[in-house]
Amino acid sequence: MRKKIVVGNWKMNKTVAEASELASAILEQLGNGIVGCEVGIAPAFPSLTEVGKIIEWSDIRLVAQNCHYQEEGAYTGEVSVRMLESLGCAYVIVGHSERRQYFGETNQTVNLRLRKALSEGMQVIMCVGETLEERESGITERIVTEQVREGLKDVGDLGGVVLAYEPVWAIGTGKTATPEEAQDVHASIRATIQDMYGDLPAQHLRIQYGGSVKPSNAAQLFSMPDIDGGLIGGASLKANDFVAIVKAAG
Ligand code: 13P
Repeated sequence: MRKKIVVGNWKMNKTVAEASELASAILEQLGNGIVGCEVGIAPAFPSLTEVGKIIEWSDIRLVAQNCHYQEEGAYTGEVSVRMLESLGCAYVIVGHSERRQYFGETNQTVNLRLRKALSEGMQVIMCVGETLEERESGITERIVTEQVREGLKDVGDLGGVVLAYEPVWAIGTGKTATPEEAQDVHASIRATIQDMYGDLPAQHLRIQYGGSVKPSNAAQLFSMPDIDGGLIGGASLKANDFVAIVKAAG
């Protein structure tokens, strides 16, 4: 039985003060109520320290939105895994479609980031997903399979890995994949993992869904057999909505 995982990706939103306020509200509303589900929040880099302090003694995990694949050095504007670790991050997101779309991220650089994070003992949420054009051309499965295979290239052990299926056309658009549409892709991702790693790792791997998840559609999405939680954008910026989504998973 896989424990569901719900993570709020705050993207480039909230000042440090606003992020602290949101983290406190989420903590207060969740209380000790997290039982059946793992929960994380991913503020922007400048807020990690303060948000980390607020959730330090709770079960909420601190998550970073990206990391670089080099140890350290002359990489202006980048953040290393060791820096994130020193702030108490338990997970880092890699390969978000916004990074692929706007910042030149490729399956190869996603793979480098993922392997660097795992080698430092940090858990990773690797995002995959097709664009609208790719879906309409009927190549969703091919694209997603390629992202999974190349993103996980030379990764021997999936212990620290969570995947997130986020169809690009459903992100921030209000258009959610239907539970059945999402389930189909999740099942195909699991089949790819089974082919690469065998039965047991495929059964243990958690695959989140992301893309316009809201309190009103979360329970239905999370009830599908291969959907193991959610990566939440817009709705994670409101404590009430995020907590309602967490409760739908728990
Ligand atoms: P929305 O929930 O705003 O569609 O964003 C999803 C997402 O990109 C989470 O990483």
